[in-house]
Amino acid sequence: MAAALQVTRSGSQDLEDIHRCACETGWTYSQGEWGRILDLASDVCVCWVQPDGEHRRIAGVGLVTSVVQATGKTLDLVGMMLTHPEYRRRGIGGQIFGALTSRSVEKGHDMALVATDAGARLYEKKHFVPVSIEPKRRKYVHNSASKLRALIQAQMDTSDEFSHFAAVNVAPADLESVVALDKQALGMDRTAILQALTSGTSDGSSTAKMVICRDDEGKSIGFAAMSYQSQSGSMALGPVVANSAQDAMAMVSKLLPTTTSFEGSDKCNSEFKLSMFLSGGKIAESFEKCLISLGFELQVTSTAMEKRVAPSSGSAQSPSYLVVASPAWG
Ligand SMILES: CC(C)(COP(=O)(O)OP(=O)(O)OC[C@H]1O[C@@H](n2cnc3c(N)ncnc32)[C@H](O)[C@@H]1OP(=O)(O)O)[C@@H](O)C(=O)NCCC(=O)NCCS
Repeated sequence: MAAALQVTRSGSQDLEDIHRCACETGWTYSQGEWGRILDLASDVCVCWVQPDGEHRRIAGVGLVTSVVQATGKTLDLVGMMLTHPEYRRRGIGGQIFGALTSRSVEKGHDMALVATDAGARLYEKKHFVPVSIEPKRRKYVHNSASKLRALIQAQMDTSDEFSHFAAVNVAPADLESVVALDKQALGMDRTAILQALTSGTSDGSSTAKMVICRDDEGKSIGFAAMSYQSQSGSMALGPVVANSAQDAMAMVSKLLPTTTSFEGSDKCNSEFKLSMFLSGGKIAESFEKCLISLGFELQVTSTAMEKRVAPSSGSAQSPSYLVVASPAWG
């Protein structure tokens, strides 16, 4: 007999079950990271297997995080769409996505997401289309943080272009200028997301550092954030907002660890893997060339998609948005 399936609204109360489903699927997010993602979400849906039985479990999840656009209108970012491999191709993903998007439609919100190839087919059926400008989001990875640090340092020593600014750690008082730069580059207010990102997770499984880039007059002209997951030995860069690829690279060098190991980790930092999703645009393109010359490898390409109530103005922004915060947070 086929297992009973039920899609329901969900949230932090189902954290453990959602985390278990994601782990069994091979997603490496810690429970603390899921906790932070669920806390920030404005809508969460899950699919229960045997909802009333002793062995009830979650077989699928998806959520929405809402941000306010420059126009004052809400943009719903759909993310973390996942169905357990044992339960795929039974309509679970479609039902969860349908429940999330119909609520957004009811409210008249624009919607956006970053789609894998498997997800894109589902979203196209719901009339999502690739964004008109630079839809590709490329995920790059580097396997050795220490080698990377040495390579960037060598390039910086021989380049004048790195000397015109100061990159400093972000103090709480600087968060306002980070939010303003992010808003300028993206056209949306992500205050809550940026605050959550800088704070790390409540269980300490993910910590973060942010640097700000200032020009000769001391004006903030860019920022970059890095999340460190010491248990899994990984670092995730993003978001990065900058005026040039050189500025972005110099900020990355400040965010690479200098100590021989991370606190709470038995791994040496040379083993740490760094990943990032690049956004589109001219500056991201030249940043990508730098990444390739430093030994970064392309892992996967996703597509930024949207469904808007009215067409977006899509005007180019300065400074540029180079690296996305995460596929769930744009
Ligand atoms: C993308 C993902 C969430 C889809 O979940 P899913 O539960 O399999 O989704 P659905 O079952 O609703 O739809 C998937 C396919 O099964 C088909 N399908 C739906 N019900 C079906 C049924 N009863 N019998 C046969 N096929 C069916 C759908 O038409 C769809 O076909 P298509 O891919 O050829 O268009 C899932 O593949 C996944 O978790 N992938 C890995 C993570 C990922 O990439 N997430 C997306 C991030 S953007």
